[in-house]
Amino acid sequence: MKNFISASDVTNIQQLVDNALKYKLNPFLDGHLGKGKRIGLLFLNPSLRTRLSTQVAAANLGMEAIVFNVDKEGWALEFQEGAVMNGTTVEHIKDAAPVLGQYFDVLAIRTFPTLKNKAEDYSEMFIKQFIRFAGVPVVSLESATLHPLQSLTDIITIQELLKNAAAYKPKVVLSWAPHIKPLPQCVANSFAQWVNAWGGANFVITHPEGYELDEQFTNGATVIHDQAEALNNADFVYVKNWSSYEQYGQQLSSDTSWMLTNEKLAITNDAKVMHCLPVRRNIELSDEILDGPNSLVTQQAGNRVWAAQAVLAEILNSLNQ
Ligand code: CP
Repeated sequence: MKNFISASDVTNIQQLVDNALKYKLNPFLDGHLGKGKRIGLLFLNPSLRTRLSTQVAAANLGMEAIVFNVDKEGWALEFQEGAVMNGTTVEHIKDAAPVLGQYFDVLAIRTFPTLKNKAEDYSEMFIKQFIRFAGVPVVSLESATLHPLQSLTDIITIQELLKNAAAYKPKVVLSWAPHIKPLPQCVANSFAQWVNAWGGANFVITHPEGYELDEQFTNGATVIHDQAEALNNADFVYVKNWSSYEQYGQQLSSDTSWMLTNEKLAITNDAKVMHCLPVRRNIELSDEILDGPNSLVTQQAGNRVWAAQAVLAEILNSLNQ
């Protein structure tokens, strides 16, 4: 694997999941794989889980990780080709990325969408410019349209719960939730893309009308606008807010009745509840769910380490070839 920005960068998702679960059992299995190698973690946006889990994963592989909060500590970057830089941007990505490529063996980048310009966001211009100019492997720590380390984690978590029922295809429902402000579609897009590519689940998406995701990621998944119908017999419910893709970045609904509660959980097959975190309590998900026995959110966030470790190990192996 050269870069990791999407499910399509992975040849065998199940193998990656199995490797991650091996690291969970034995974190230092490949404790020398990253010896003498350095990863730069560049954040253009805030993070708790992604930042720390990737640092822990790198340390488990003997790799040095250096975090750079580009948004707070770096020069304002310009990404437009041919830009006349007479405004707020100070350094072009064409100049910054090759320098970063000199300092690091691998670069990992978090960069959110603007939610203003759909064509620009969905072209993944920011992360693709890093790939183009850095000259080293690039790992997405969440980009404009996708969050692949999160989605790999989510599949690891589902797989872990299914370990004694390998032949069983669970019903997995991605359920839209209310929020106070418009959020990117990344986590939802990415979860759909990875679950489809993995193929180990019966996948259903439920959301109010107008929240259809980009079909390049949902890829024919069943969409049901009646949340109760969708939740019927679900084994896993993945709760997430996203803003509209069609009316790009808009909040079309603030219907609080979409929040998952124990009453709704009763329709399911005692479903386990997932959320990538951070979560707005009693807006996106109720206290009773988050503090209850069906919540997987802490286990899920813990698994971020093993997902990152499996991905970094695969990249290190390809660097060492
Ligand atoms: N789920 C997730 O990516 O969390 P952070 O934004 O805290 O990294």
